[in-house]
Amino acid sequence: MKTVLSVASEVSPLVKTGGLADVTGALPGAMRAEGWRLVTLLPGYPSVMKALKSSRVVRTERACFGGRARVLAGRAAGLELLVLDAPHLFDRAGAIYLGPDGKDWPDNAERFAALSWVAARLAAAGVEDVKPRVLHAHDWQGALAPVYLKAMKGGAGIGTLLTIHNIAFHGLAPASKLAALKLPEAGFTPDGFEYWGKISALKGGLVASDCISTVSPTYARELMTPEFGMGLDGVLRQRVGDLTGILNGIDEELWNPAADPEIAPYKSPAGKAKNRRALLHEFGLADGPGPLCVVISRLTEQKGLDLLLNALDVLAARSGRLALLGSGDAGLEAAWRDAAARLPGVAVRIGYDEALAHRMIGGADAILLPSRFEPCGLTQLYGLRYGTVPVVADTGGLADTVIDANAAALAMGVATGVKFSPVALDPLRFALSRLCNLHGDRKTFTTLQRNAMKQPVGWAASAPQYAALYDRIGGRA
Ligand code: ADP
Ligand code: GLC
Repeated sequence: MKTVLSVASEVSPLVKTGGLADVTGALPGAMRAEGWRLVTLLPGYPSVMKALKSSRVVRTERACFGGRARVLAGRAAGLELLVLDAPHLFDRAGAIYLGPDGKDWPDNAERFAALSWVAARLAAAGVEDVKPRVLHAHDWQGALAPVYLKAMKGGAGIGTLLTIHNIAFHGLAPASKLAALKLPEAGFTPDGFEYWGKISALKGGLVASDCISTVSPTYARELMTPEFGMGLDGVLRQRVGDLTGILNGIDEELWNPAADPEIAPYKSPAGKAKNRRALLHEFGLADGPGPLCVVISRLTEQKGLDLLLNALDVLAARSGRLALLGSGDAGLEAAWRDAAARLPGVAVRIGYDEALAHRMIGGADAILLPSRFEPCGLTQLYGLRYGTVPVVADTGGLADTVIDANAAALAMGVATGVKFSPVALDPLRFALSRLCNLHGDRKTFTTLQRNAMKQPVGWAASAPQYAALYDRIGGRA
């Protein structure tokens, strides 16, 4: 079978901070049906080492960015894995990117350069029966792999694809780390991985990869504009012919309202009522005639939840409720706790809780994503599948996956949610008020929910698009 070496810093269900993990965890299964075998290289964090059963050592690196490392081959959670066991880099308690002080680990550049360098070495040399035609790197943590591979003997015949899940993170390092990161000095130019005097892992990958993809068609277009490109729009414009947007899918077995063990399963919107009552109870909220809304999110500037804090009165005025589950920025956590303390219709759980996320999607009437930018977004897709109407900013993957309930779309019977733009307070307030109006009209709202539940949100459409890319860059035998 044609093989891809996929390299990523997180892979669900083994280690996850966001949607990146969901996608790298789901892609191998989705691509199997397309005739591609994906073997995933990821760091040997403690959770990964624990999950890896009956592994074997397939490679040793004596000098791997400050210590000895081994590559272990094995399986976990149905995935074929290569694990970079480098205790000096990855055997740490706590979060995968952040130290106990809440700041990035000071050696993150080395940690993920090591991952990328080992990926390139494995791809070039092959390991056991893994002789990849394609190296597929994800985000800045994998982005140097194509850079190393290009400079390596045996690297020339392997196609390289870099997928951008979020361009906000560049993986910058000072120029003084060139040698420590095993990077060729000749590449430290504006046409290479140099970025305003620093090393940029992401830019290096964008320049060196045969193809670039991102996780929605709209974000692919947005990335080429100064507003969304975060300083790399020029680089992307130069590569317009090699840039594709392919929508993420979700795991339709894991996220299935008809067989979700966390909820009272249902096949039509009427079945949500029981789950709605349970959710109100779980969050200590009183019922009311308005919509029960949820947010499940990292709390960061990206997600626009600071704006939502200033729009809560719109919901309150219409007896709407809001339950939020999230964690991240300390200021936002505090502001949301404060809102919950002040407003009887608002309840907040600060933390990370997948089971609760299922109960929230199952029980809510609507899910809110007022993101300033959103490469794809997964929770609106969960919302669609569960008849939980998405209210979204008209950007990135949100723009591509939700059909606004305007008069024309309602008349044609295709509307699935509410969209607003620009991402600012007044348009958000208006969107919430539209949600309340739609919710107040039972028949219309049920139609919206039914339409939402019929939307395709799995990998059926996207897997062939990845296959076409793999074939394009790695078609040789
Ligand atoms: P991003 O990757 O930018 O965080 P996505 O919407 O692509 O956004 O993916 C986020 C993923 O993380 C989803 O699977 C979502 O359910 C999950 N998630 C985010 N925050 C939480 C939380 N506090 N508890 C449980 N799951 C969460
Ligand atoms: C990123 C983006 C999100 C996307 C996810 C998976 O974290 O913020 O929009 O869905 O990656 O591609």
